[in-house]
Amino acid sequence: MNEHAKLLTLSERADELEEAMMHQLTERIITKSALFNLADGKVEIENGQAILAANPGKYFLMGADPRLPPMPEKPTLIDFFKARFATTSHLLQSATHALKASHSEKVILACLLHDIGVASFIRCDHGYWGAQMIEPYVDEEVSWAVRTHQALRFFPDSSVGYDYPQMYIDNFGADYKPEPYIVRDYERARNHKYYMTSRMICVNDIYSFDPNAKVNLDDFVDIVGRNFRQPEEGLGFDDSPSAHMWRTLMWPTRFL
Ligand SMILES: [Fe+2]
Ligand SMILES: [Fe+2]
Repeated sequence: MNEHAKLLTLSERADELEEAMMHQLTERIITKSALFNLADGKVEIENGQAILAANPGKYFLMGADPRLPPMPEKPTLIDFFKARFATTSHLLQSATHALKASHSEKVILACLLHDIGVASFIRCDHGYWGAQMIEPYVDEEVSWAVRTHQALRFFPDSSVGYDYPQMYIDNFGADYKPEPYIVRDYERARNHKYYMTSRMICVNDIYSFDPNAKVNLDDFVDIVGRNFRQPEEGLGFDDSPSAHMWRTLMWPTRFL
């Protein structure tokens, strides 16, 4: 064992090995963004020039990551469901509840998309992220509802039989209190014309965590077709204000 290896902890050595293997996987060098390291509890980013020096003759990845499922040239929302969303059963269950309850297509679509922030991107503030991703492509009622469910989830509404979720008590502890920005967004939402659309996300959300429920994306393809303005150029290549978010999801390890 050399001096360098002796100084490293086991997990640091595992990280180094993983990184070395990762770099050998492809002709292109794959790196992690700062955010991925933050999630591992590290405020750091690899030094590009040092990596290049350690990999003579190689270049950084500037496109598709060969370890991930390939995406078509002009990806649709359905392609992202299939190839980039880490889990879809919760979204499909929630939308299925809304469908069975004969809600409007806007409510069904809002349920189908309400947690894409979590499924594809990041947990923190997922309602805001998810709404931003879909905003250019859906009716404002749908994106408003997705954004606002983030706040409404924490507040009961007895008029529709929605209690504070037991799951949140189990997940966050009985003494968890929503932050002031969540409270402010809830208060702003209460008298908004789309309040009930967002509230219906919450209502159809609470029964949607059954790992064995049978759900099918095909049931929603037509509703998506009628209510999601799929750009001809493909999601990510249409120059909308959120196109870059879809591109990042497509190419999460692109160097720049
Ligand atoms: Fe959510
Ligand atoms: Fe949810």
